[in-house]
Formats: sequence, structure tokens, C-alpha cells
Amino acid sequence: MSSIHHFLFLFFLCLWIAESADPSGQFCNNSTKISSTQISKNIDTLLPKLVSRTSQYGFIKTSYGEGEAQVYGLAQCRGDVSSEDCSTCIHDAADEIRKRCPNQSDSRIWYEYCFLRYSTRNFFGQVDTGFGIYYYNVQNVTDPDPDTFNKELGALMDKIRSEAVLPANKGLGKGKTKLTPFNTLYALVQCTRDLSKQGCAECLAIAISNFPTFCNDKKGCRVLYSSCYLRYELYPFYFPLDSQDSTLLGASKNYHSHTVYKP
Ligand SMILES: *[C@@H]1O[C@H](CO)[C@@H](O)[C@H](O)[C@H]1NC(C)=O
Ligand SMILES: *[C@@H]1O[C@H](CO)[C@@H](O)[C@H](O)[C@H]1NC(C)=O
Ligand SMILES: *[C@@H]1O[C@H](CO)[C@@H](O)[C@H](O)[C@H]1NC(C)=O
Ligand SMILES: *[C@@H]1O[C@H](CO)[C@@H](O)[C@H](O)[C@H]1NC(C)=O
Repeated sequence: MSSIHHFLFLFFLCLWIAESADPSGQFCNNSTKISSTQISKNIDTLLPKLVSRTSQYGFIKTSYGEGEAQVYGLAQCRGDVSSEDCSTCIHDAADEIRKRCPNQSDSRIWYEYCFLRYSTRNFFGQVDTGFGIYYYNVQNVTDPDPDTFNKELGALMDKIRSEAVLPANKGLGKGKTKLTPFNTLYALVQCTRDLSKQGCAECLAIAISNFPTFCNDKKGCRVLYSSCYLRYELYPFYFPLDSQDSTLLGASKNYHSHTVYKP
């Protein structure tokens, strides 16, 4: 292949990958129904407002409409991503959510860089762990040994969750710990910005308490809840990217998931 063809091939491959970016998760609450065309119209008016304000401020909670047809919406980007990535992500989220949940008035969609939800119920400020997805790396930790790993993971989680609850940090906490000469642990937690300090702490505590069940000794794990997000990995994933680190090479990126409904 000539280099220009090679370039074009890669260029279109990248475009294709960008176009087909799937969400990390979605939840269409089947016990809720869009019961009037007014609700449908209000959702359609609300979505562009969520997109433009989130692109600008990284977060928005707002409502549109009146009475039975009032729709509450919230959108937030991961606090470490650029405003360009945030804007792209929230546009995708708004485009996809109506396609994926056409008939539900309570709908939520997660991407790696952003989250969007709406409902006819006012959910602002409420800790919601009723639906969640845990993605775990299929590989177990071997270096260091699991006991040491879990101790270090617990310590790092304690540190970054105490950051996340401080109002100045807008729900975000992130950090890293060098475990061995070759392995560094990276972690990020984030609460939605409508939560109180207590609400944020509660959501993160619920997710972390489920680590032994869903993330036990795993090399990486990600938790998607409607009120908080958590992730840890043995490779750099949050921005600014830690480019010094060699663990990115050869890191396994094979994940499985558990979907959890709180009884
Ligand atoms: C909602 O119903 C659809 C269609 O029956 C189904 O595919 C989907 O899994 C259901 N969603 C949930 C969260 O139960
Ligand atoms: C949504 O509702 C419409 C009209 O009732 C129906 O035709 C369609 O199959 C439903 N879509 C899904 C995904 O359930
Ligand atoms: C789905 O909607 C119903 C009705 O509003 C609500 O009671 C239930 O908690 C919702 N499910 C989840 C998992 O949030
Ligand atoms: C990881 O450890 C668990 C529990 O000890 C074991 O069941 C599982 O097979 C291991 N997975 C891999 C990929 O080695």
C-alpha cells in the first residue's frame, strides 16, 4: 500500500471506530412509560439543553415542562476529560438514549467520558444504586500478591473518596500508587454533582463494599451507578495520561460484566 493509501485507510478506520462508539451501559426502566406526547416533546426539548450546558460546564441538572409532563434531566462528564471529549460524548449520549429507550420515561446512558439520564420523577440529590453495572478485568492480580494489592487498593480508594466529597473537587477524586517496580495502580471515583457530601460518600461506600463480590482480586474494575462512577486499573486511564508508565503495554483489556439490581 502506498503511504497515502495507508494513511487514508487508517483515517477512515479511525472515523469508523469513532462513529460506532457504543455506550458502556444503558438502563431503560421498563416500569416507566412515556404516557403522553407532551412528555415526549419535553424530553426532546430537554436533551439539547443538557448537551449545550454540559459541553460548557461539565454538568447540568435541570427540568422542562409542567405538571405530569415535567421531565428532570441530569448530565455530567468525567471531571478529567477535555471539554472537546466531553462535548462529543454528551452529543452521542443524547442521540443514542432516545433510540435505545424509545418508550421509557426513566432512561439512563453511560459512556466512558459521560453520563446522561432523565425521568418524570424528580431524582435530584438522591443516592441511586438501584441499577448498576460492574465491569471487571478477567485477569487476577498476581504481582503484588492479592492481599497486598487489596490493602493498597483500599488505601487509595479511601484517599480519593475523601477528595471526591469535597465540594471544591466537584465530585471527582483520582490518584495512583506504585505497587511494585513494574506495577502502578490508577484509580478514579466521581459522584454526580447534585449529591450532598453524605450522598456522595454513601454511593462510593456501596460500590466499594461490592468490590469483594464483583471485583475480587481483579486487575481492573469499573462501577457504573446513576449517582457515582468508580474505576481502577493497573494501567493509566485518566487524564492527564501518565505516559512514563510501561504497564500500558501488554495490559489485558478483556472485561466481563455483572449487572446488579438492588432487591
Ligand atoms: C426492558 O424490556 C426490553 C424489551 O422487552 C428488554 O430487552 C430489556 O432488557 C428490559 N430492560 C430491563 C432493564 O429490564
Ligand atoms: C415502543 O412503543 C411503540 C408504540 O407503542 C411500539 O411500536 C414499539 O415497538 C416500542 N418499542 C420498543 C423498543 O419497545
Ligand atoms: C423503575 O421505575 C420504578 C417506577 O418509577 C421505580 O420504582 C424503580 O425503582 C425504578 N427502577 C430502578 C432500578 O431504578
Ligand atoms: C481468578 O481467581 C478466581 C478465584 O480464585 C478463579 O476462580 C478464576 O478462575 C481466576 N481467573 C483466572 C483468569 O485465572
